[in-house]
Order: sequence, then structure tokens, then C-alpha cells
Amino acid sequence: MDNSVRDRGQQAIAQCVSAVMRSRHATRAFKPQPLERNLVEDILDDAATAPSGANIQPWRVYVVTGTVKDTLADALLAASRAGTVPAPAHFPDPLPDVFRARLQDFGARYYESLGIDRTDAAARLRQSERNLSFFGAPVGLLFTIDRRLKPHSWIDLGLFAQNVMIAAKARGIDTCPQVSFAPFHDVIAAHLQMEPCEVTAFGMSMGYGDPHAPVNQIAMPREHLRDFARIVGFPEEHSAR
Ligand SMILES: Cc1cc2nc3c(=O)[nH]c(=O)nc-3n(C[C@H](O)[C@H](O)[C@H](O)COP(=O)(O)O)c2cc1C
Repeated sequence: MDNSVRDRGQQAIAQCVSAVMRSRHATRAFKPQPLERNLVEDILDDAATAPSGANIQPWRVYVVTGTVKDTLADALLAASRAGTVPAPAHFPDPLPDVFRARLQDFGARYYESLGIDRTDAAARLRQSERNLSFFGAPVGLLFTIDRRLKPHSWIDLGLFAQNVMIAAKARGIDTCPQVSFAPFHDVIAAHLQMEPCEVTAFGMSMGYGDPHAPVNQIAMPREHLRDFARIVGFPEEHSAR
């Protein structure tokens, strides 16, 4: 194969990967269409190619569907309504201003897409509860890690999860990563008979997204490259973007 053919092939691969990455969005409304077990297994198999420090592969994932998923969702909702689960504290308080501004921007876009007034606490709670039923997705995933590991290994779990989302999107399947499950570890662990050393880090909804649902139309913005990357040492002419 000559270089130009190889380069064209490489460009096509880059365009394909870029298109898959850019088309992935957190999806919060799904079609009822089920996912085949083989498809989910292929996605997880691809995802397990993720790198991990010293290749310890600390990820563990539980896949739930059908009545198992529904029963778990019912138990989570009951626990949430009983008020027995510790209030989530996913971010530090106070949250540094730069992050608070982005969080507020997220909230504004999210609730606007749902037609929920930000002051309507009851409507916000109802929407928040939809996390616990995997937003109606046919498949739910719960990601756990050994609680004895250090934050360093949670990076590996995150890389695995991103691989899951990209491998899914490459097959036309949508996802939503959800830290909302983390406070419910005890309920989840009891239902799925987890080992005592495991802790639920987050969950994920998976299925075919409903393209007509307004909540799936939000395009969350990203900061510009110049604002998050500092690139030094290249000749000046390569830095114009
Ligand atoms: C670790 C993590 C946890 C998240 N937890 C939730 C969640 O609990 N509920 C939810 O609706 N979205 C959750 N999200 C989705 C984010 O809100 C979403 O990724 C972000 O707003 C960017 O939008 P995009 O993924 O569509 O680009 C989470 C994302 C990540 C990476």
C-alpha cells in the first residue's frame, strides 16, 4: 500500500472516530426497543481495551435489564423517597467559581429543555428521580471499583466508561453516565449481591435514544481549546486555530 493510500485510510479512520466522539451526547429519553445481549457484550469487550495503571483493570460492571432492572429501579425510588440515603455531595462546597458558572449553565439548559422552571423544586425532584429508572432505557449499567484502591485507579474506571460510551455510539447506541446512583450503593449492592470490597462509582443508561425528545436536543457547550490547553514549543505558524 503506498503512502497516499495509507494516509487516506488513516484520515477516514480519524474522521470516523471524531464523528463518533462528537455525536455522543448524554441521552435522557429512550425508545423502548431492547438491546441484544451480544451487542452489549461486544461493547463491553471493546471497552475493556482501556488502559489502566500497571494494567490492574480495576473496573467491574453490572448490566441489568428486564424485571431485574425494574425491581432495582423500584427499590432505588423507594429508598430515595424514604429519605434514608445520604444527600449526594458530588462537588465540594463551595464549588470554585469557574466550575459553578458551568454547573449553573448546565442547569439552565437542562431544565429549559424539559420546560421546568428552576424554582419548581417538585418538578426538579421528579426529573432527578428519573435517573433511578435509567431514564427508561432498556439497559442499565452499574460501575463498581474496589474501595481499597486509590483515586488514581478511578481514572482507569473513567477511561473504561468512556470506552463503553464510544463503543456504544459507534453502534448507534446512546448512553448517559450517572453519578446519581453512587449514594445508593447499599441498595444496589444488596440487589446485585456485590462483594463487600466493591463500591458503586456511577451508573449508566444505555439504549436507542429518542431523537424527538427535547431533553436529547441539548448540545452542551465546551470551552475553547485555547482556554484549557497550553501548548508550547511548536513553531508559531502551527498555532493558528
Ligand atoms: C461522571 C459523570 C456523572 C454524571 N452524572 C449524571 C447524572 O447523574 N445524571 C445526568 O442526567 N447526567 C449525568 N452526567 C452527564 C453530564 O451532565 C453530561 O455529560 C454533561 O452535561 C455534558 O453533556 P454531554 O455528555 O451531552 O456532552 C454525568 C456525566 C459524567 C461524566
